[in-house]
Amino acid sequence: MSIVIKGGTVVAADRSYEADVLIEGERIAAIGPYLSGDTVLDAAGTCVMPGGIDPHTHLEMPFMGTTTAETWESGTFAALSGGTTMVVDFVIPEGDDLIGALDAWEARAKRQASSDYSFHMCITGWSEATFDAMELVVARGVNSFKHFMAYKGALMVDDDQMFASFQRCAALGALPLVHAENGDIVAALQQKFLAEGIRGPEAHAYSRPPEVEGEAVNRAIMIADAAGVPVYIVHVSCEQAHEAIRRARQKGMRVYGEPLAQHLALDEGEYAHPDWDHAAQRVMSPPFRDKLHQDSLWAGLSSGSLQVVATDHCAFTTAQKRMGLTDFTKIPNGTGGLEDRLPVLWTKGVETGRLTPNEFVAVTSTNIARILNIYPKKGAIAPGADADIVVLDPKAGKTIRASAQKSAIDYNVFEGVEVRGLPRFTLSRGEVVYSAGGNATPRPGRGRFVSRPAFPAANRALSTWKALVAPRAVERDPAHMPIGV
Ligand code: URP
Ligand code: ZN
Ligand code: ZN
Ligand code: ZN
Repeated sequence: MSIVIKGGTVVAADRSYEADVLIEGERIAAIGPYLSGDTVLDAAGTCVMPGGIDPHTHLEMPFMGTTTAETWESGTFAALSGGTTMVVDFVIPEGDDLIGALDAWEARAKRQASSDYSFHMCITGWSEATFDAMELVVARGVNSFKHFMAYKGALMVDDDQMFASFQRCAALGALPLVHAENGDIVAALQQKFLAEGIRGPEAHAYSRPPEVEGEAVNRAIMIADAAGVPVYIVHVSCEQAHEAIRRARQKGMRVYGEPLAQHLALDEGEYAHPDWDHAAQRVMSPPFRDKLHQDSLWAGLSSGSLQVVATDHCAFTTAQKRMGLTDFTKIPNGTGGLEDRLPVLWTKGVETGRLTPNEFVAVTSTNIARILNIYPKKGAIAPGADADIVVLDPKAGKTIRASAQKSAIDYNVFEGVEVRGLPRFTLSRGEVVYSAGGNATPRPGRGRFVSRPAFPAANRALSTWKALVAPRAVERDPAHMPIGV
């Protein structure tokens, strides 16, 4: 059985052109004019793009005394219905049992996922067992490790632990990821606001100012440079963080930055909302910022100093958020968005002229596929690539409503936002898994793990350069040594 997507404009990261796309089995077989197949999908008036890849999700993650309400079943189905065909989720180990945690994440995902998926491993401490396990993790197809510089007393790691782990990443051909906020200062500011009696969700934002993020990004970049490894900064929310990334890239460092759809579209005014639930539902780290920061993030995406738009989908119900009713530090941190990322970015980015359609594809799919070493299997419309495709209708629109969403939670941070650029069809490895007006249902068990091999030695330019210019002992002739040594 073959499928042909007919009459659309293929929109890739590098160019747009009119062509049909022929799919045989799970892969793209041909691209060109006048193709025919067993099933024809009408793509007239649409953009035929690589399916979205959301490289930052937390499905069924135990965190802050509870577990995210979005399951692998609801989350991956929500993703597909919004044009995202792959998610990369964070595995959080207890202590140094990295493999046990990976097994647990894999079991949940395998049983429930409708879309393809992959993992990042979190490094939440440092020991010989962690050092050893990292190699096994890479052998299991996980080539990225996340480090939290925040969440003191829980997930946070110190600079020396991070440096050790980054060096290990360099040796293994893996990519370190960083949640960059100065956790010591955040913890101190939280106590200060509690002591002053400011206990509502607004204090979450007060305790995590942009400077706290900017400092940590600079520190993470310095540590990566010392270890001779590229670094990827997750959820970049402000100019201070972006500025550090921009400056490092200008100096030749391989530093990647990932803003979120939420930070691009929503601002700190949300925390001043008179309704406690409304404000608490938007508590995430880093918090939403003053609107000025949004201009910086958009500029980074169009100029290339920021490469990827994710969601950090970490969805708690209103009831879970109320764990922090009398103390903002107990509000579980996280917001949803994976279902809305593409339409929100299309509307706020492409329709406003801040992104071209090609830049849209780059930041929602192609760039991250390259960064994570799965290109062109994912992130490309090309013969041989997995047929993960979103047929996006730029004219189709809706008003975002929690009541109509696939996500399992009871609200949506984009409630009431009018968007355009909705999927007409979403295909995952050659299967139509969502069609507008159809009645798609979750397909637990059809999603597959995407193995991401380590970066080969030949690609590790940074480590090679570091080795070439490493400090060396000066060899001295004994004749030039003081007598008696
Ligand atoms: O508030 C957030 N971002 N929650 C998810 C965990 C993380 O920091 O990525
Ligand atoms: Zn984080
Ligand atoms: Zn409200
Ligand atoms: Zn996250």
